[in-house]
Amino acid sequence: MTDPVKYVLDESRIPTRWYNIQADLPKPPPPVLHPGTLKPLGPDDLAPLFPMALIEQEVTQEREVPIPEPVREVYRQWRPSPLFRARRLEKALQTPARIYYKYEGVSPAGSHKPNTAVAQAFYNRAAGITKLATETGAGQWGSALAFAGALFGIEVQIFMVRVSYDQKPYRRALMETYGARCIPSPSSETQSGKAILEKDPRHPGSLGIAISEAVEVAALRADTKYSLGSVLNHVLLHQTVVGQEAMAQMELAGDYPDVIVGCTGGGSNFAGIAFPFLGAQLRGGAKVRVVAVEPAACPSLTRGKYAYDFGDTAHLTPLVKMHTLGSVFTPPGFHAGGLRYHGMAPLVSHVRQLGLIEAKAYQQRPVFDAGVQFARVEGILPAPEANHAVKGAVDEAIRCREEGVSRAILFNLCGHGHFDMQAYMDYFAGKLEDRDYDERELAMALAGLPAVKEAA
Ligand SMILES: Cc1ncc(COP(=O)(O)O)c(C=O)c1O
Repeated sequence: MTDPVKYVLDESRIPTRWYNIQADLPKPPPPVLHPGTLKPLGPDDLAPLFPMALIEQEVTQEREVPIPEPVREVYRQWRPSPLFRARRLEKALQTPARIYYKYEGVSPAGSHKPNTAVAQAFYNRAAGITKLATETGAGQWGSALAFAGALFGIEVQIFMVRVSYDQKPYRRALMETYGARCIPSPSSETQSGKAILEKDPRHPGSLGIAISEAVEVAALRADTKYSLGSVLNHVLLHQTVVGQEAMAQMELAGDYPDVIVGCTGGGSNFAGIAFPFLGAQLRGGAKVRVVAVEPAACPSLTRGKYAYDFGDTAHLTPLVKMHTLGSVFTPPGFHAGGLRYHGMAPLVSHVRQLGLIEAKAYQQRPVFDAGVQFARVEGILPAPEANHAVKGAVDEAIRCREEGVSRAILFNLCGHGHFDMQAYMDYFAGKLEDRDYDERELAMALAGLPAVKEAA
């Protein structure tokens, strides 16, 4: 027994505060706008959708937000999550790099998503809410909120993107096991869903459509609030437990990351691992390169426009400034790898604009090549989303080999892929295609962006 493979912290080391990067940014992000007046949104505008405690977290500029004890109590079920040194992967790659990964797949639902689901369920319950509506794509977020709802006595209604609903019956079964109701989206339960089905009864669905359905249910029913698993400031805030723990674990390892890699769908697991380190850098600490990795089939950060857009397809949400592919974006049929949202978290978009992070897009076959290589040496089978981060880290490690330099690379292994075996089977059967998102479709979707005149 020589060099450690796992760095584990005691339960007492679960963070007591979430970290808010807004307190350390050199420039505040652009305001969220009311879609009718195009004026900055006030807290009351969000009250039909969220409890006031979460709205306050959405707008707070405080550097630290205390984590309520009942939330930490639930976190104890799997937190602190382990930090691994990928010694076998390093050996396989013959790299001088020190590769570390923070493993969030140890949560009950299998990803980082419960970090915010538990917090959101707690605040809703504290405000007397007994029903939550939400959307889910691949099912990780839906499973997380279903789990959190079960713990806090909240009924959870989940609109699941239809293709995933059909392809992933076991994710659906998990949500139902936790007691949630799972509905394929677009559905005939909402006006937004009906409008889509009238035009195309076989529409495969998209996260933008599922969000419209869930928002509509919450807006129309006094007993129901809405819950989102990514993108919003308070969601990113909750995920910073990941990066804070990783900082303490890197200290245990006697190391500090030169490069941090995370995959980006809506931006929450990426922000969760990266923001605490970026904050330290902004406060005068060590500089770290931060790389966001996304699929070439849904390239919001690398090919999207930084503009005001709606968060959903039916345009029920406020307008946020973000990197977007247009709210009518439907993930192309050839894409299997998760990470399918049309926009990017406004805070992640903003730090990209400030030049604090880099972004890369990968085709899905090399992403799965990396995931399979990882599984064969480290044993953990990554979620397809997490494979993007694995690929990003492997490329950084190969660069170290080529340059003959040893750097510390930290990435977020944000979930396991035990419910995603169809994507792996398609990969092994040679059915996955590598194709960029169509230029014409992108131009068409972007042409429909709302016209917002911004102050200089
Ligand atoms: C395992 C996993 N990783 C990443 C994501 C992308 O979301 P985010 O960018 O908010 O972390 C998802 C989305 O549901 C997911 O299930």
